[in-house]
Amino acid sequence: MLRILQVSDTHLSRTHPLFQFNFEVTLREIETLQPDLVVYTGDLALNGPDNPDDVQFAHEQIARTSCPYFALPGNHDVGLVPFGGHSEQLVTEERLATFVAAFGNDRFVTDMGDWRLVGLNSQLIGSGLSAEEDQMTWLTDALACDSKVAVFMHYPAFLQTAEDEDVSHYALSSEPRRQLLEAFAAAGNVQLVGSGHLHQSRSLLHAGICFEWAPSSAFVIPGNILDTFGGRQATGMLLHELSDAGISTQHLEPALMMNIDLRNWSKASPHGYYQVVKQPWMIGDLQPKIAA
Ligand SMILES: [Fe+2]
Ligand SMILES: [Fe+2]
Repeated sequence: MLRILQVSDTHLSRTHPLFQFNFEVTLREIETLQPDLVVYTGDLALNGPDNPDDVQFAHEQIARTSCPYFALPGNHDVGLVPFGGHSEQLVTEERLATFVAAFGNDRFVTDMGDWRLVGLNSQLIGSGLSAEEDQMTWLTDALACDSKVAVFMHYPAFLQTAEDEDVSHYALSSEPRRQLLEAFAAAGNVQLVGSGHLHQSRSLLHAGICFEWAPSSAFVIPGNILDTFGGRQATGMLLHELSDAGISTQHLEPALMMNIDLRNWSKASPHGYYQVVKQPWMIGDLQPKIAA
């Protein structure tokens, strides 16, 4: 049996270390569990698109992982997939290059036992960037195998059904989603798709594939829209056990992990996240000042 620990949405930053405690808890949990592999499914950094050092710092921290791992980008690392005229923090070649310079790659394929594990950069899917087509060609090759396949990416493929209309930045847009699901169906061997981004855990089944949403290990974002998605809103991580008998997925909630809720952050609308993380860090040098 393969034990894959999926950790998501760590949101790390050198200048704004707001979730560092929960990452330390995460590293201890990894040491205790000793999974065969850890897959980090994006939003590794707090505000990577505007602050490349957050991406660098996220890599420095994730490199402390005590077992083999892969890390994939999310919108807080390389930017948002364009949607509905929204123009802030979009994915760009430059932001992708910053991520690849730090982490070495933005996708992976590896074989473990009877399984092939495939990691995608979901921020390319629907981006229109040239790397989007490259990745689809690469994916077709990666799926061409006799193994069972587990796929990981940051955005979920869909929120309720594979036929959902476009639903803003919460999931893949409908047309690129259709192409991706067609590629999975054509390959016929994809059993699991693990995603992040929504900071809540949920299990969905579509066309024989388990779609598992991972919680964030950093914080939860309850709110009018996210409360309607039907997932479990608690910090933690997913443990996937892959075997001949099938897939078992558990949402683990380490006892010491703080269940940080953005509703408590600030009075800024809608929850203060961007308003807080974009402020210059006000604490500065914590060393006591000694008079000369
Ligand atoms: Fe996130
Ligand atoms: Fe995200």
